[in-house]
Amino acid sequence: MDTQVVIIGGGPSGLLLSQMLNRAGIATTILERSTREHVLSRIRAGILEWGSVEMLREAGVSERMDRMGLPHDGTYITDGDRMVHIDFKRLTGKQVMVYGQTEVTEDLYGAQDAMGTTILHNVEDVVIKDLDASQAKVSFTVAGERRSLSCAYVAGCDGFHGVSRKTIPEEKRREFERVYPFGWLGILSRTPPVHDELIYANSDHGFALASMRSESLVRYYVQVPLSDKVEDWSDERFWSEFKRRIPASAAARLITGPSIEKSIAPLRSFVSEPLRWGRLFLVGDAAHIVPPTGAKGLNLAVSDVHYLSEALIRVFRSGDESGIDGYSERALARIWKAMRFSWQMTTMLHRFDGEDSFAAQMRRATLAHLAESETAQKDLAENYIGLPF
Ligand code: FAD
Ligand code: DHB
Repeated sequence: MDTQVVIIGGGPSGLLLSQMLNRAGIATTILERSTREHVLSRIRAGILEWGSVEMLREAGVSERMDRMGLPHDGTYITDGDRMVHIDFKRLTGKQVMVYGQTEVTEDLYGAQDAMGTTILHNVEDVVIKDLDASQAKVSFTVAGERRSLSCAYVAGCDGFHGVSRKTIPEEKRREFERVYPFGWLGILSRTPPVHDELIYANSDHGFALASMRSESLVRYYVQVPLSDKVEDWSDERFWSEFKRRIPASAAARLITGPSIEKSIAPLRSFVSEPLRWGRLFLVGDAAHIVPPTGAKGLNLAVSDVHYLSEALIRVFRSGDESGIDGYSERALARIWKAMRFSWQMTTMLHRFDGEDSFAAQMRRATLAHLAESETAQKDLAENYIGLPF
C-alpha cells in the first residue's frame, strides 16, 4: 500500500483530517487541484464555533488563532433600526471566535509541512477506483505524468465541484437541494468595524452583514440578485447600499475605505447521502452546502472531520469498524440540524424577489418575537454557537 489514506482536496476539510490522522501515526497523501497560493487567496468563512476552536487546539494548530482571533460573546440581529442583542455568553455560557478561513488554512498548511506530509498541488483528472476491493486506488495526473496510489481509505474533501461525490453511483445517491434566488456580495476593507460584534441586518432594501477579520479589517456583505456581477458594484455603490441596510445608529459610525477584495457567492442548501461508499468517505462541502447566513459551512466541515478522524483512528488501531460504519449516520444527524438553522436564518433575514406582502410581515413578526422572547434568543444562540459534536 502506498499510503493509508488518500485525501482528495487541500481545503480546510482535507488539511484538518490529514493533520488529525498524522498526529495519530496514520500516513496520508493530499491531492489538491489548485496551487497553494490560490487556496490561500480564497476569502470565505470568518466565524468558528467553540467546538471548532477546541478541535483546532486538539490538532495542534491553534497558536496564531489563540493570539490573533477575536472571541465574541454575542451578535446583533436587526430589523430596520431595531437591534436585538443575542448574548451567547449569558444564554449558553459559550462564545464564538472571529478567525478567517484563510488563516485556518494557512495554519494547517504550516503544520502539515512540519509533519512532512506529501501534498501534491496542480493535480488533475483524479479517478477513484476499487472502492469495494481490499485496497482502493486513486489515479491522477501531476506535472504531465499519470500516477496512481493504493490506499486503505479515500477521503473526499474536494468541495462541491469535486470528483468524490460523483464517484458514488447516481442511483445510490440521494440529493436534497434548495437554490436561493440571490447571492451575497462581500468586500474586505482595511477599516475599523462598525460595531464590536457582528450585525445581521434585515431591511426593506434586503439583507446585510457586518463582520470583521480584526480590529482594522472588515468583511461586509449585501444580498444581491443572482444576475449581478462584481463589475456592477463600484465601492461607492457598495457603501451606499450597505449603509442604508444597517441600523441608523451603526450607519452613523460607519467608516468607509477602498475594498481590497470583492466577490459574489450564490446561496444554496444541499445534502448528498450517504457519506460513505465502500472505502470512500465524503467530508465537508463535497457532501453538503449551507447558505452562509448561519456561519455553518466551515464549522460543519470541522465536525465531519471530528467524526471521521475518530472512526479512522479506531479502525487502524484495533480493526474496529463500528466508527466507519456509523460515520454517515452520525455526521448527517448534525448536518441536518445545521441545514435547518441556516435555512431558518436565511428565510428570516432575506427579501425574496417577487415575494408577497405576507412574507415581509412574517420576517418582521419573527424578529419581533426574537426581540421579546428569551426562549427564542436562547434557541438562536444554542444553534449559532454550535450544537455538540
Ligand atoms: P473547500 O474549501 O471547497 O476545499 C475543497 C478543495 O478541494 C479545494 O481546495 C479545491 O481546489 C479542491 N478540489 C476540488 N476538486 C478537486 C479535484 N477534482 N481534485 C483535487 N482537488 C480538488 N462559510 C461560512 O461559514 N461563511 C462564509 O462566509 C462562507 N463564504 C463562502 C464563500 C464561497 C464562495 C464558498 C464557495 C464557500 C463559502 N463558505 C462560507 C463555506 C466554507 O468556506 C466551506 O464550507 C469550506 O470551505 C468547506 O471546506 P472544504 O475543505 O470542505 O471545501
Ligand atoms: C462571515 C460570514 C458569514 O457567513 C457569517 O454568517 C458570519 C461571518 C464572515 O465572512 O466574516
